[in-house]
Amino acid sequence: MPKIQGLSYGGDYNPEQWPEEVWPRDVELMREAGVNLVTVGVFAWAWLEPEPGGYAFDRLDRIMDGLHDGGIRVCLATATASPPPWFSYAHPETLPVDADGRRLSYGSRQAICASSPVYRQAALALTEQLAQRYRDHPALAVWHVHNEYACHNAHCYCDVSAAAFRDWLQRRHGDLAGLNAAWGTAFWSQTYTDWAQVQPPRATPTSSNPGQVLDFKRFSSDEHLACFVAERDALHRLSPGVPVTTNLMTASCVNLDHWAWGREMTGPDRLLSNDHYLLGEHPLEPPAQIAFAADLSRSLAGGPWLLMEHSTSAVNWQPRNLAKPPGQLRRDALAHVARGSEGALYFQWRASRAGSEKWHSAMLPHAGTDSKIWREVVQLGTDLRALAEIEGSRTGAEVAVLLDYGSVWAQEAANQPSADMVAFDEIRRWHSALWRAGITADLAPPDADLGRYRLVLAPALYAVTDDAVANLTGYVAAGGSLVIGPYSGLVDECDQVRPAPLPGAFAELLGIRVEEFFPLRAAETVRLDDGSTAAVWTELLAAPDAEVLARYADGPVPGAPAITRRGTAGGPAWYLGTRLADAPLGRLLAEVAAGVGVHPELPGTPGVEAIRRRHADGRSYLFLLNHGDRPAEVDATGLDLLTGERWTGPTRVAAHGAVVLAQPAAEGPA
Ligand code: GAL
Repeated sequence: MPKIQGLSYGGDYNPEQWPEEVWPRDVELMREAGVNLVTVGVFAWAWLEPEPGGYAFDRLDRIMDGLHDGGIRVCLATATASPPPWFSYAHPETLPVDADGRRLSYGSRQAICASSPVYRQAALALTEQLAQRYRDHPALAVWHVHNEYACHNAHCYCDVSAAAFRDWLQRRHGDLAGLNAAWGTAFWSQTYTDWAQVQPPRATPTSSNPGQVLDFKRFSSDEHLACFVAERDALHRLSPGVPVTTNLMTASCVNLDHWAWGREMTGPDRLLSNDHYLLGEHPLEPPAQIAFAADLSRSLAGGPWLLMEHSTSAVNWQPRNLAKPPGQLRRDALAHVARGSEGALYFQWRASRAGSEKWHSAMLPHAGTDSKIWREVVQLGTDLRALAEIEGSRTGAEVAVLLDYGSVWAQEAANQPSADMVAFDEIRRWHSALWRAGITADLAPPDADLGRYRLVLAPALYAVTDDAVANLTGYVAAGGSLVIGPYSGLVDECDQVRPAPLPGAFAELLGIRVEEFFPLRAAETVRLDDGSTAAVWTELLAAPDAEVLARYADGPVPGAPAITRRGTAGGPAWYLGTRLADAPLGRLLAEVAAGVGVHPELPGTPGVEAIRRRHADGRSYLFLLNHGDRPAEVDATGLDLLTGERWTGPTRVAAHGAVVLAQPAAEGPA
């Protein structure tokens, strides 16, 4: 964590967009708002290196000094996410190429091929210059590498990438025989006889080989990761002792294998940070979107993490950009903090006057300080200072929801039985069903040590390795409880169908046998004999060795089992052969959770989200976030750190308000 007392508060600060006269006023206003950490220079490459090798750091020196004089620490960016036009113009081979073979232009941002040695070298050179110049600057608190890797340039299909892809494939599959076997190239006459023939999955007349597409997604994630690791290592070498981070997008980016990234972003002098923006028109409610992003960030970090960016109000990149009503700025920030963030930072400090993001909200809006946003920003600064003692406390979870990027990618391939089976959406839907039930969950990869969870959910685990199968089987054998969703365990990590009975990975564990898939039409629903409804997916299922909890009452396979449970010598294992609607899914998961001893943090107060952070000595903090239009009374006691009020009876949480109850070790449940 940045060496800051208490929680971090601030945002991206882009002084290069403003005349120097504005800078002292920025510092003054940051102090007024209680800002203690700003991210400087994220898109400042052109400002820092206006010509090849001609570094101009004098202005950044003055910024760093000015912030230091104001008592504000700096998360200093390496500025490598967006090379200047002089660079891209001189090195057009560093520009990304899409699957259709079009080379994209500069004039936006992230116009980079991640495999380009020319780009990597230039990025490293700038990073090293910055590290050498600022490593001893007293304002420096964190190094911020790049910005949102793969946000706009996840996959590049150029010749440089093709060569790097072939190297990567040789490391993964050894020889061509291994590659041909893994990709199943006997199908459609795709057998390769020379490495030179192997390409990225560029545009083809019809669907490309799914094994090739899957490997290309893995490769692309690894290429971006290699860029991060190179900059990170240079910073560790030249600036030891200063934490290094890069900002992930856990809820919105499925192009990176975040578990692999998490491993590289945690440990001594490393910090896992995340950006999160609400989607105004999304099936999940805004607080459920936050809960997922934050829970995944915490799970990747294995503990504390930092919210590097979110928005004070509207963004500007959705078709309709919804502003936050009064109170939501504070509640959203606290929702991230409740789930383990050691602070709250924004994009950005001062709203830009020009450029693509001038209509994006900021801490200091175009309207100035006489504004709703500014008043709430100042209030949040006070709130976060009042929460200083929660620093270092942890958010715990007894349930894990499995997320495997390789599996998500395999299922993204063309020619699936139903286009409506979108794995990442389904994982989020199950997570939000738990959120609605008031249960905090971690995310975990299927090969993680799951022993500490009472309950593990696998909403969508289409592709699974033998190791993961053994891990999940072992978890159940040791007494764990597992719920598996439909279309899971069918293929291996090369996307090749596992041997019968289906689902090859889990038929025995679940005591079931899938005979045939019966996907539903777009708006079709089916009824189950327990009264619930489902959509998207049904299958002809037999349950030779499991109890049938519900059968289809209508639809394509009436009478077939829809939900089963196998009581093993270890723990129980459930299978859902269909996509239950939100309400019955929520009921079922809450029932399963209760049955294995997992209960909501705060039973029976609908509309109030309750999350607990706990110190190792047992002192804990109960965050109560009221999402409703009316005040709520909550059966909890303690000292509200935000107001100083001590609640001895029910605690009152104002409409759209927040309370953080400090509770001594004895008061909160163990
Ligand atoms: C993030 C990005 C910021 C800014 C923000 C706008 O994805 O890191 O630079 O563009 O989105 O919402």
